[in-house]
Formats: sequence, C-alpha cells, structure tokens
Amino acid sequence: MDKTAKVTPWEVSGNIDYEKLIKEFGTEPIDDKILARIKKHAGEIHPYLRRKIFFSHRDVNWLLNEYEKGNKFFLYTGRGPSGQVHLGHLTVWQFTKWLQDKFDVELLFQMTDDEKFLFKKGLTLEETNKLAYENALDVIAIGFKKGKTKIIVDTDYAGVMYKHAIKVADKINFSTVKAAFGLTDASSIGQIFYTAMQAVPAFLPSVEKGKNIPCLIPLAFDQDPHFRVARDVYPKLGYYKPAILHQKFLSALEGPGKMSASEGVAIYTTDTADEVAKKIRKYAFSGGQDTIEKHRKLGGNPDIDVSYQWLTFLEEDDKKLKKIYDDYKNGKLLTSELKEILIEKINKFLKEHQKNREKARKDIDKFILKS
Ligand code: TYM
Repeated sequence: MDKTAKVTPWEVSGNIDYEKLIKEFGTEPIDDKILARIKKHAGEIHPYLRRKIFFSHRDVNWLLNEYEKGNKFFLYTGRGPSGQVHLGHLTVWQFTKWLQDKFDVELLFQMTDDEKFLFKKGLTLEETNKLAYENALDVIAIGFKKGKTKIIVDTDYAGVMYKHAIKVADKINFSTVKAAFGLTDASSIGQIFYTAMQAVPAFLPSVEKGKNIPCLIPLAFDQDPHFRVARDVYPKLGYYKPAILHQKFLSALEGPGKMSASEGVAIYTTDTADEVAKKIRKYAFSGGQDTIEKHRKLGGNPDIDVSYQWLTFLEEDDKKLKKIYDDYKNGKLLTSELKEILIEKINKFLKEHQKNREKARKDIDKFILKS
C-alpha cells in the first residue's frame, strides 16, 4: 500500500493494497471454502463474490454455522446522508439485496443524519435529516422487501437508540476512538460519541425479540473501524458480535481511492444521461496509449483503466467482461469505445433506478421505523 494511502470512515485515498488491509485490520480473506458454503445456501455465487470485490470478512463461518443450526441472521447496513447517493454506495446495497433475497432475511438500514451533521462541515442537522429521507428513496429503489426492511433515521429514532448507545459508549475509551478513527483532542464530543450510535442496530433486533439474533453487516472497508471497536463491546453487553463482509471501493473516475462526493468526480443516482456521458468522457482515467496508432500496436492496460474497473462492478456477464478485457489489452478496443460501453451500461441502469426512485416516494412510510 503506498504510504499515503488512507482508509478511515471519513477519508479514503491513495492506492489501496487490500491484502495489506486484511493484515492491518485483522480480518480474514474470503476463501473458496466460504464461497462454497454460501453457494450451498444461495444456489449461486454473486459476481461480486466470484470477482473478489467482496474480498474479506469477520466471523462469516460462525454466522453460517448458526444459520445451519436454524438460527437465522438479519442484515444491517447504512448510509451517512451528506449529499446525493452515488454509484459506489449502490454497489454495496445491491449485494445486500442479493443476500436478502437468497437467505430470505430481514434488513435494518441506518441513516446517520447525526453523523453527517457532526462530521461534515457546513451541513445543518435539518439538511442532513432531509437528505436522509431523500437518500432513503435510493435504498427503496434497490428493491428491498417491504415488511422485511426497516430504515432508521438516527435523530428521529433517537428515543429508541439512545438508551442503547450510552451503554455502548460506557464501554469505549476516548483513547480507543482516537486510535481507531484518527480523532484528536480538538474533535468535538459529538464526534467522539458517534460510533456508539452506529453500533446499536447490530443488536437492536436482539433487544426487541428478547433473544440473541446473529447479524451480518455488508459494507465497504472504510466502515470497518466502527465495528472493530464495537465488536469488543457487544459480548460485554450480552450480545453476539456481528459478522461482516467487506467490499472493495468503486474508485473515483479520475483514479485510485474511493468514489466520494468530497474527493474526485462521482456519478450520482440523480445524474442525467447527458451528465453521465460528459463526466465519463472527460474524467475516466484511461489505461490506453496516447495515440490510436500506439494503442492498436501496444494495447491498453485494463488493470488501471477506470472504465474497465467500473465494468467489473457493473457487467454481470463474465464472458462479455472477458472479451472487453482481451479486446482492450490487445488494442482492438479503444479507450473512447470502452468509455461508450460504460456510459451505455450506467445510463440503462440509471433510467430504471430513477423510475423506481420516484415510485419509492409513495412507499417511504412503509420502510421508515417510527419510535
Ligand atoms: P457512507 O454513506 O459513507 O457509505 C454508504 C455505504 O457505501 C460504502 N461506500 C462505498 N462502496 C463502494 N465504493 C465506494 N466508493 C464507496 N463509498 C462508500 C460504505 O462503505 C457504506 O457501506 N457511517 C456510514 C453509514 C452507516 C453504515 C452502517 C454503513 C451506518 N451504519 C453500517 C455500513 C454499515 C456512512 O457514512 O456510510
């Protein structure tokens, strides 16, 4: 990993070495044995697992042991509503939907309007709260099951959350939070407390049902520190540690790091087809040669080409993807042509997503948990 690479819940930058992250964070790689166990129950393997986009985990073997004993898990994931949802967020949620469908389980989804108020300068609490409900439309548009999916908006569900969050907070020292999140003495006490709120949904169903229920959290790696800290606390409060599946980042269009509203150019779920095309044509980092003649002769490098890398998230068909890889590598496919393939793929997807997003407005009350 290059020395400047950083992975925290609030900053991801540089060239990320995922093997090294596994060692540094003390997680485990997803190996063929786990894939076979998932396949046994799901009947198939999602492309993100096959392609090692979900590449690491915590305690998934334990979770599957429990599942096989008839102890069903629930899913928990979330969103910090600091702006519009971008394609990177959607990748985690699409995989989460696949898990929900295949294992027929409930999902608890947390909208952390408190977090984004505390960490994102310039946003008021009213704004982050409004964004939570706007972002919830994107979550619902993914197609999660009605009745089996509940969305928590932190400040509106605080009456339920707070009494559990302080119990978590009681067991975490400032020094732990400093080390895990890079907070300093200048951090606000709201920032220091926040991680306790993100810990709660992993055991809320256990509280409500009066018995321990296993929890599985799909996320991209930047969110792991919250649970690395909280996993020491759960058993002290009498709950299971949640299992976690870690995803790699969809990069920013210009290159390494993660796609994010604050760093680099992102594609949002509300972008028009024209905006998508313009951004990709202008910004997507190319692994091609600088002239057509050279490209035809020497070929491109799909391993660093952002359009190709994005297609590994977006193109489900392995054969099509392989052909694009080969054609680009041997110079048959030009960067401009590769970009058009990506543009078409994204715009086709967004057309459908935007329709579902509008339809979600009438359904939102069925998903939001009220205290
Ligand atoms: P947030 O809003 O930063 O991100 C939402 C989810 O998207 C993942 N993510 C990405 N995945 C792939 N490529 C990217 N470029 C990319 N950028 C973000 C994040 O890892 C996350 O899974 N504090 C959280 C909200 C939250 C949460 C949770 C997330 C509350 N509870 C439990 C995961 C699990 C946040 O600000 O996420």
